[in-house]
Order: sequence, then C-alpha cells, then structure tokens
Amino acid sequence: MKADPDLLREEFFKAYGDRAADPVFFYSPGRVNLIGEHTDYNGGYVFPCALDLGTVMVLRLTGGTKIRLNSLNFPGEVEVPLSSAYTPLPGSWTNYPVGVINEFALKGIAAPGLELLFYGDIPNGAGLSSSASIEMVTAVAMNEITGAGSGMMELVRMSQKAENVFAGMNCGIMDQFAVGFGKKDHAISLDCDTLEYRYAPLILGDRRLIITNTNKRRGLTDSKYNERRSECERAVELISMHHPVRNLSQLTVDDLWMIEKYIDSPVIRKRARHVITENGRTLDAITALEKNDIATFGRLMNESHDSLSADYEVTGIELDTLVYEGRKLPGVIGTRMTGAGFGGCTVSIVESPHADEFVKRLGEVYTTKTGLRADFYMPGIGDGARRIV
Ligand code: GLA
Repeated sequence: MKADPDLLREEFFKAYGDRAADPVFFYSPGRVNLIGEHTDYNGGYVFPCALDLGTVMVLRLTGGTKIRLNSLNFPGEVEVPLSSAYTPLPGSWTNYPVGVINEFALKGIAAPGLELLFYGDIPNGAGLSSSASIEMVTAVAMNEITGAGSGMMELVRMSQKAENVFAGMNCGIMDQFAVGFGKKDHAISLDCDTLEYRYAPLILGDRRLIITNTNKRRGLTDSKYNERRSECERAVELISMHHPVRNLSQLTVDDLWMIEKYIDSPVIRKRARHVITENGRTLDAITALEKNDIATFGRLMNESHDSLSADYEVTGIELDTLVYEGRKLPGVIGTRMTGAGFGGCTVSIVESPHADEFVKRLGEVYTTKTGLRADFYMPGIGDGARRIV
C-alpha cells in the first residue's frame, strides 16, 4: 500500500473537520490466487497470497448515533444511523463495511458512532478482492474498538457472511481468509474443508509474478458465480445417491468415472470434472513450489486455466486472449486466470529478463484482439489485515 498516512489524515479532516481528535488507521490487503480456483466452496484446496496493494480505513469515534462513511475511491458521503440490524443499500460500496458492522450487531456487539474514511489502491472489480479487503479492514477495526476479542478466523467468517448477505455473492472463504492471514513473501495453502493452513515461501528467484487486468466491465459475475456454485451442489446431490460424499473435493481423479456414470447432464459433469481435477492440481502445485520446482508449478497453472476455460466456462474472450497469447511469449512459465473469472485478472510467472517484453507485447496483442487496454501490475506479497497507526 503506497498511501501516505499524513495525506489520508488531511483528507479525513477535510471530510469531518475537528482537528482536535486524531483518527486511528487500519489496513487490509488484496489477494491473488496462484492456483485452486472455484475449489473453496467445494471443500478443496486453494493457494492464494496477500498483495501489497490494499485498503486503509481511517477511523474516529464520535460518541454520536450514526456512522458516517466516505471513500476517496467513490464520491459522496453515506450516513447510516446506528441500529441493531442494518439493511443493504442497493448498489453502494458501503454494503461491504456496513455488512460487517451488521455481523457484529447480530452477535450483540453494537458499533459506536463513527467517522470513517476509506482509501484503496486495489483495482475495483478486478478479482483481486477489493471487497474482501474492505470487509476485513472493517472487521479488524470493529474487533479492536468494541473489544469484541474475536480471533482472525472468526473475523474471516463474519466478513464472508457479510459478503453473502449484504452483497448477495455466495462466495467461499478464500478471499477473506487470504486477506486476513496473509504473510509477506508467502503463499498460503488452505484446506477449505478443515480450514487447516500452512505458509509456503514464495521464492521465485529470477522470475516475476505479473498480474494483468482485462479491464472488462463486470457484468453478471455474481449471478454466474452463484450458478456455478449451485451446479456443484447438484453434482454432489447426484453422486451421493450412489456414493457417500459431502463435497466434490472428497473425490480424486481416480473417481472421475463416477461423474460419467452418475451425472447425466453434460454441463454438470464438466463442472464436477473441473473441481476434482483442479483440487488435484492444486495439491501437486503446492508440493512443486515447496520443492522449488517452478517449471511444474507453471505447467499446472496452465492446466488450471485450460480447465476453467473448457470445463468450468468462467473465462471468456478477454481472459483467454491474455492467457493464450501470453503463453506464446518468451520466458512465460505459467499463466492463468485468477479469482472468480468472467473478466478480472490473470496471474503469470515470467522470467525477469522477459518481463518488460511480456507487458509490451501482450498489451499490444490484447488491444488488437479485444479493443480493450490491459493494465499490468507487479505487486509484492504482503502481510494480512491489521492496525497500522
Ligand atoms: C471469488 C470468491 C472466492 C472463490 C473464487 C474462485 O473470488 O470470492 O470465494 O470462490 O472466486 O476461486
């Protein structure tokens, strides 16, 4: 996060006046998922890391009866009266913080009167978890100012629930988890069934992690996401009529015959095949990274994208262009979509001497083929949500 606390303090006083009482600062990162896509809500493995892009929340207690919210990223102040149960404001970014404040309220932990200012440098709607970042910065702040004493895992769950209820996105736990538990220069392997996790150093040597934003306008991402989720639930229902399973990640590639035999819908069969093969790839990729076998890791990233494109059908022309054109360029070890899909970003591992050429040539061919301009980021891997000042 590059935001300067002094500048943010000035912006805070511009919005709320009264320089006598200083605000406090909280921070939460965005995340990129290296592999393990659409596995979290299927009880599988994911392998994300927190970025050094994020959201700062500047906060002051007022003793009043409302919460005032401003963001340097979205114009206009929103005022919300304190309540024991909050309701979403259609289309407003404030649903992310207020959704979390609502989760505290539902546990009987009331928010005090607040003045809040947010600033984030995660591109919005790009699949890098800008929303989870706002939720988690709010959760960490609320936990501290109310003395609620919740652990990080509880805050992660509350933020996930806020997203489900207030944003209507039936997301899994990966984003809020990665944002909460991020660790500098490490990826996190998380078993989304048991919530056991461990850190793996992300040592790429003379290679760069490059994130490329399709800049495709977000359309029906949330409803298509929820549809995929229901398709997976249907697959479990059909298989469990013959074989006891709680989720698709309990199956391995040796069990793929079951989906052929027990699922008659070709679409649901494809969805199940993606989840089962992706979970296997993710475990293999984690092992490869732990052995510093980046070539295998890159190959698995490529296979992950192919499966998300052909079987899970969450890519589209923009992501596929970045990935399939990117693979033709020198020094590209692996490249795939990251996050929910349908737009958003790709993540690539590229040999450092070829990084500039990758950015230039891929940017050009992407614009020629799609008429859109791609943005490229080479962020560092950062720590999770916390108080900063
Ligand atoms: C979104 C969701 C996550 C996860 C990914 C796909 O980012 O919020 O829970 O399902 O999509 O892997």
